[in-house]
Parts: sequence; structure tokens; C-alpha cells
Amino acid sequence: MTVGAFPKFRSRLFVFLGGVSLVAGIYSGLARIGWYVPLRSELMETVHGPLMLSGFLGTVISLERAVALRHVTAFLIPAMSGTGAFLLLFEPLYSVGQLLLLGASLGLVVLFLYLVRSHGGFHVGVMAVGAVLWLVGNYLWREGNLLYQCVPWWAGFLLLTIAGERLELSRLLSLPPTTRKVFLGSVLLFLAGLASSRFFFAEGLRASGAAMLLVAFWLLRHDMARLNLRQQGLPRFMGRTLMGGYAWLAVSGVLWLFFAARFDTGPFYDAMIHTFFLGFVFSMIFAHAPIILPPVLGFRMAFAPSFYVHVGLLHASLLLRSGGVLLASQEAQQWGALFNAFSILVFVLVSVRAVSSATPR
Ligand code: HEM
Repeated sequence: MTVGAFPKFRSRLFVFLGGVSLVAGIYSGLARIGWYVPLRSELMETVHGPLMLSGFLGTVISLERAVALRHVTAFLIPAMSGTGAFLLLFEPLYSVGQLLLLGASLGLVVLFLYLVRSHGGFHVGVMAVGAVLWLVGNYLWREGNLLYQCVPWWAGFLLLTIAGERLELSRLLSLPPTTRKVFLGSVLLFLAGLASSRFFFAEGLRASGAAMLLVAFWLLRHDMARLNLRQQGLPRFMGRTLMGGYAWLAVSGVLWLFFAARFDTGPFYDAMIHTFFLGFVFSMIFAHAPIILPPVLGFRMAFAPSFYVHVGLLHASLLLRSGGVLLASQEAQQWGALFNAFSILVFVLVSVRAVSSATPR
């Protein structure tokens, strides 16, 4: 059955489920960084990472794939990840939630195996490896590994998913074969770092950090975003936001390279994680939202200069948060984190406004 027979409201339901993870994830993140929130519990604080990663990002990424594939069974993947993440919030159902998330990542791997066979292409292969990394991260987590040991695999899932998508667009630029080889070499270095982190954790992460830096330079140099900078309106907004995200990826790579030994807890861990997840990944979300949300949700979105507000807020608050680490200021880190959350809220509000001011489909 194709998605034509699959009403748009179900896509909206999955976005809603992903949104629940996002809100719960931000709430638990704020509790974890020391802000007072009601109903605080140990469980709520430990599920922050899985809610953000598998619950929110896993759901929206697999939903986007399902919509592109236009096949009803593919929608089981976001259904599983959205529901699984929701169940994590209830202690007796925690392990059912973990199982559903593991199932969702396995489903995404199967979906990509199908895409590799039916469509082929280097970029599809890169994204397929990304899905495998999500599966490995979820497996390690389900097996009882500590969260910080799973985080690099989850980060790999996002890095390869995003890089694969950008690579697909860069095909239009007909890049020389050596450029592709440099990209492939960086991805292989990242994977080698991840694999060796199972035995030599810090050394492995350093290699992956170096690879992140290489991927960031590659994207800054070869991505289509550079061409968009010369245009106006939405393309220029996207170009600038993507470039900002690549810069954060480079910062994150440098932090992993130099502070990998502290990748377990504390302020440096916070900076290493959030320069990547907020600086890089959320910049990608902010940049792509105006073109990805309309086909997924069936709404139009009108570009407005106010799109720059949440992007500016994200960069400024992340500078404050990571700067707080370097200056050993817990206060700066906490306020930065609060404004990180605020930037996501502003993004939602600006997007809703952009939908309501656009002409209906
Ligand atoms: C928006 C506001 C956010 C706040 C206030 C926040 C807060 C925190 C805090 C305090 C930690 C623990 C750091 C430590 O151990 O010292 C943490 C860990 C983590 N965060 Fe966030 N975060 C936010 C956004 C995000 C986003 C958007 C993502 C992913 C997309 C994310 C993913 C993670 C992950 C994976 C961990 C590591 C999990 C763990 O070790 O428990 N966070 N966050």
C-alpha cells in the first residue's frame, strides 16, 4: 500500500510523538543541568539522551524516509521509535521502550538495505551505515552499557545520515573523484575510531573527532550550501544556517580530539556532546525544516526573516554554554542551556507562524 492511501494525519501523529520526546527530553535536560523543574526523578534525568536521540531524531529521520518511500509498512519504524521513547518515561515499561527503540533501528537498517538494493548510490550506502550505527548504539544501551559509551554510536548515526543527504545534493556539482575519496577516507576514519573505542575508549574517540573535523572541512568546502550564500531569501538562509552547523561540527571535532579522556560526565562532556547535537544537528534541522516539513506534514511554509531569530539564539546560547565550560562558569553553562531550550521553542513558534501565513495546499 502506498502513502497516498495513508492519511497525512498519521504523519502528523508521528511528528507529534517525536515532539513529545523533544519536550520531555528538553525538560529532563534542564533538570539535569540544575534548573528547578517539578516532578523531577532519577529516571527522568537518565532518559534525556535516549529521548532526544532515538525518540525525537530517530522518529523524525525514519518518518522522513517512510514518506519518501511511500510505503505503509515503513511507517512502523517511526511508530515504534515514537512509542518506545514515550514508554521510557514510565519505569515499569522502560525495558519495553528500549526493545521498541531497538526494533525501530533494526527496521531502519532493513529499509536502507532495500534502498541500497533498489536505488544504490554512494550516499544511500553512507546513510545505511548511519542506520547500522543507530542499531549498534541502541543494542549497547539495551545490553546495559553506560550511556556515554553509546553516545558516540548515536552521534555517528546522525553524522552519516546528514552527510549522506548533503552528499546526495552535491552530486549536482559533479565533484572530482578525489574529493569523494577524501570524504570516504574521513568516514572510514570515523568508523575505525568508533570500533576501536570499544577497546581504547579515549584513543578511539580522538580518531573519530579528527574525522569529524575532516568531514566538517569537506562540507564547508564542497557542500552546495556555499552556492546558496550568493542567493536571497530561503536559499541564503539555508546556506548560512548549514555553514554555521558545519562550523559547530568542526568545534565538536576539536573538542573530541583534545578532551576525549573526559567523555563520561561533567562540563567538558556537556560541551563535547552539545556542540555536536545542538550546534551541528539542530542547525541542520533549522536549515532543512522549511523544505522537509511541508511534504511530511502537508503544509506550506512561507520564508520570513524571523527564521534568523532562532538560529541566532541557538548560536549565541551555545557559545555561552560551551564558553562557560572553558571559563569554568557553571552559571554561564546553565543559562546557555536554558536559552538553548528557548531557541528550540522559538523555532517551533516561528515555524507555526510560517505555516499559518502561507497559502493552504
Ligand atoms: C536544549 C537543551 C538541552 C539541555 C538543557 C541539555 C542538558 C544536558 C545535560 C545537563 C547533560 C549531561 C551532561 C553531563 O553529564 O555533564 C546532557 C547529556 C546529553 N544530552 Fe543534552 N541537553 C539539551 C539538548 C540536547 C539535545 C538537543 C540533544 C540531542 C539531540 C541532547 C543529547 C544529549 C545526550 C546524548 C547526552 C548524553 C546522555 C547521557 O550521558 O546521559 N541534548 N544534556
